[in-house]
Amino acid sequence: MQSLKGFRDFFPEEMAERTYLFDSWRRVARRFGFVEFDGPPLELLELYTRKSGDEIVGQLYNFQDRGGREVALRPEMTPTLARMVAARAPSLPKPLKWFSIPQLFRQEKNQRGRLREHFQLNVDIVGSPAIEADAELLSVALEVMRELGLAPEDVVARVNDRRIISGVLGLLGISPKIAPAVYAVVDKFRKVPAEVFSDLLAEAGVERNAALQIQGLCDRSVNLFEWCRSQPVDETTRRVVSDLERYLEIFREAKLGQFVETDFSIVRGLAYYTGIVFELYDRKGVERAICGGGRYDDLVASFGGPKLPALGFGMGDVVLTLMLRDRGLLPAPAPRVEVVVIPVGGELQSAARQVTNELRSAGLPTETPFEPAGVGKDLKAASRDRARFAVIVGPEEWQVNEATLKDLGSGEQYRVPIRELASRIRDAQ
Ligand code: HAM
Repeated sequence: MQSLKGFRDFFPEEMAERTYLFDSWRRVARRFGFVEFDGPPLELLELYTRKSGDEIVGQLYNFQDRGGREVALRPEMTPTLARMVAARAPSLPKPLKWFSIPQLFRQEKNQRGRLREHFQLNVDIVGSPAIEADAELLSVALEVMRELGLAPEDVVARVNDRRIISGVLGLLGISPKIAPAVYAVVDKFRKVPAEVFSDLLAEAGVERNAALQIQGLCDRSVNLFEWCRSQPVDETTRRVVSDLERYLEIFREAKLGQFVETDFSIVRGLAYYTGIVFELYDRKGVERAICGGGRYDDLVASFGGPKLPALGFGMGDVVLTLMLRDRGLLPAPAPRVEVVVIPVGGELQSAARQVTNELRSAGLPTETPFEPAGVGKDLKAASRDRARFAVIVGPEEWQVNEATLKDLGSGEQYRVPIRELASRIRDAQ
């Protein structure tokens, strides 16, 4: 029997990589003052059909449960968060800073970096409209990159604002009716060749001249800020553009500016974003986002809560792990045990068990062979398992409550009273 396509088995080596990543995620999120939450992996289907948009709804694992309810495995965490916040909005202290590491399920086409389940660090802030909150959010994602050993040569954060795209499309005479289709094409800018991109714009109903302007903004032959200054853009767009400039300034001040670029083609596939949006990419690798997020000020209200400004991101484990593996940035898994207790002869097996229990009680990862094979073989097995110490329990020493402590790295060994074993091992660590 094989596992389902797009679903992973985590053998211990892979599990060690996953644990390393999750520990780093948790450390950084907590460093910024975020608290962890979780929700159910199965939700009512309607939670996703209401606001997430067609792309993700087309990838749902959904079915009717035995009670006749339409349910779905969660493909993302944001609707669950919005539902939970809406349910208790008045009593939750704001701004609320939450993080979570859910496993998510999407029935996608299988490709490198894209699976049918993945884990995602979600970091969200609810209750602040300030641009400083937007900057803090992206700072968390960038700090995760640094924590994992990734620098601006490795990763770029591409940022944009949904309201700028909508302002630009308005100015180019593109009707709001076709705007969602145009967003979807702009989102594909980096994924398709230039000719296909202009064909897609034409298919969406964009005239040639407007299409050329969009193409120029996307490939950056036209500078977005200069373009907006030279055009009769409306007041809202002008304010949004100046906010975006201030946002970029915050990263320059924090010496994170090298990570961040504006990019008109970042619109995000999900339907609920309303403001600044961003995606993180591997500068050298395939065009798969490591992370994506932005502002979604209307989502909480759409689940029956008050109108609360909100923003967040999701960072997947799949692309990130591939990147870290390619660059040799994943640490070797820690040894299984630190100490192996080896009896000299079968009569001392129960004595070895007793010593093992004492060391375990002292908090040291310790084991003793189930079937001792002789000191030489047992020592070899302990070295193969990368244990740091062996404790050899021989008849003479045992009679005077002692054992031989052997440092498996240096080969040094000496007799130690049993009650001092744990502290000696600790001191040597
Ligand atoms: P998303 O862009 O759909 O956003 O996913 C975020 C990240 O999850 C992606 O950049 C990618 O690294 C990873 N990811 C998504 N789908 C897959 C997949 N099939 N296989 C492997 N990795 C994948 C969201 O999900 C939003 N809910 C994020 C968010 C949180 N927005 C606000 N708060």
